[in-house]
Amino acid sequence: MWRVKPLDQILATAEKKSLKRSLGPIQLTMLGIGAVIGTGIFVLTATAAQKAGPGMMISFIVAGVVCALAALCYAELASMVPVAGSAYTYSYAVMGELIAWLVGWALILEYALGASAVAVGWSGHIVGFLDNLGMHIPHALTVGPKISFGNFLEGGEIGGVVNLPAVIITGLVTLLLVVGTKESATVNAVLVAIKVAALILFVVLTLPLVSGHMNNFHPFTPRGWGNPIGSSGTGVLGAAASIFFAYVGFDAVSTAAEETKNPQVNVPIGLIGSLLICTVFYLLVAGGVIGSFGAQPLFDAAGKAYSAGAPELYGSATCTAAHAPLVCSKEALAYVLREIGHPFFGNLLGLAATIALPSVVLLMMFGQTRIFFVMARDGLLPQGLSAVHPKFKTPWVITIITGVVVAIASAFLPVGQLADYSNSGTLFAFGAVSLGVMILRFTDKNRVRPFRTPFLFVFAPLSIIGCLALFLSLDDKSKNLFYIWSVLGLVLYFCYGFWRSNVRHGIVDDVDLDDSANGQPPA
Ligand code: ALA
Repeated sequence: MWRVKPLDQILATAEKKSLKRSLGPIQLTMLGIGAVIGTGIFVLTATAAQKAGPGMMISFIVAGVVCALAALCYAELASMVPVAGSAYTYSYAVMGELIAWLVGWALILEYALGASAVAVGWSGHIVGFLDNLGMHIPHALTVGPKISFGNFLEGGEIGGVVNLPAVIITGLVTLLLVVGTKESATVNAVLVAIKVAALILFVVLTLPLVSGHMNNFHPFTPRGWGNPIGSSGTGVLGAAASIFFAYVGFDAVSTAAEETKNPQVNVPIGLIGSLLICTVFYLLVAGGVIGSFGAQPLFDAAGKAYSAGAPELYGSATCTAAHAPLVCSKEALAYVLREIGHPFFGNLLGLAATIALPSVVLLMMFGQTRIFFVMARDGLLPQGLSAVHPKFKTPWVITIITGVVVAIASAFLPVGQLADYSNSGTLFAFGAVSLGVMILRFTDKNRVRPFRTPFLFVFAPLSIIGCLALFLSLDDKSKNLFYIWSVLGLVLYFCYGFWRSNVRHGIVDDVDLDDSANGQPPA
């Protein structure tokens, strides 16, 4: 189970595929921004407010710093192993099959449940947008039923049945993936422009109001700082653990390394550049939200804060009344604009999110299907799953299975919970990559490293500590689900992958997809 897939073999497979190297630094940064900006900022700002209040500004910085550290580690690996499969492939080459399997298994949480979270975020926007145009979708069809399952999940709302819009968008995206639609660089550029324009609009309309409402920033940390040891996902750190979702996706840049001109220089620029731009935007947006409208958490009659996204929060008298606080909204930024007297721009922002979010769902589902594909190709999952459609040349079986899983999760679970589940998997994968890059400095000293992470032995341990601290700051439900998921993964591995692995049997990769199982669409 400690067998590794030799780096030279991985690189030889990559050579054979030889994709056109067409992406430059600007396109790469755009790719990063395209994958990053999504439900996190447009929706989860409300979740962060319920967990931390105005202190969420610090949460954005903490999450951004942890991501930047992980990104620097990713960059070294991405530049020296510019192949698909992301954290899973890196781990296979460095830390052996068992760890790789666990990383791949955790990435299912990241990508599949992340896609569900974005689909639910999209649903909130389309429902709000249509509502404001006078087209009312029945409440029962916009959220899942109130459910509570031990300390693993909680969600839905009284009167909810199914989140139909989320299921529909997932179905459409699945269809596009089966027929092999890939987002072109041009489409991506347009969508990035729409998202960035929406955020700029928000900042321009809200920031001027901040100076007149400085009292909105008090109390700054109404629910404290949070405590990773024994925390239940609240306070500034709890919000950071959730809002971390807003930064996820930058690894899209590292998986596009194969298609990048001069990846040695451009991949790090793309990774750090897109993260930096997003962090600045997020801080300005968070400041604008707090200053213009307020972001205090909601407490029940007994003075206890509601859990973010809980059925009780949405069902409370305050949330069901008109002009409810931010924490009740499912389309945070659009809602703020409407409430501060800009209904037209609020709807415009909602429309922008409605147009742009499906591409984030597509990117995440695309990533998921390709990781499944590589794992099946490596023999760790049944080979039948990697069946390629004769006409469309896409891994259609795995795409449909992914679509069904994403649709079911988005039909019944709330966005905040889905994002937290997704984060648990992502944090594990980022931690593993940070460890892997250090190990490789010892085990493969002489390999050319076009990009060397500066101060690796400071940054990588800090990245691991950061990922661990954020993981522990997630709510108990997400941590419990992650533990169960990992145990399930271990059982599966020892029942199946351990015996069937291609590396065990000395089989070298032979099948591949037209898109090279790459996590990213070509230009
Ligand atoms: N960062 C992406 C989003 O916020 C996943 O939607």
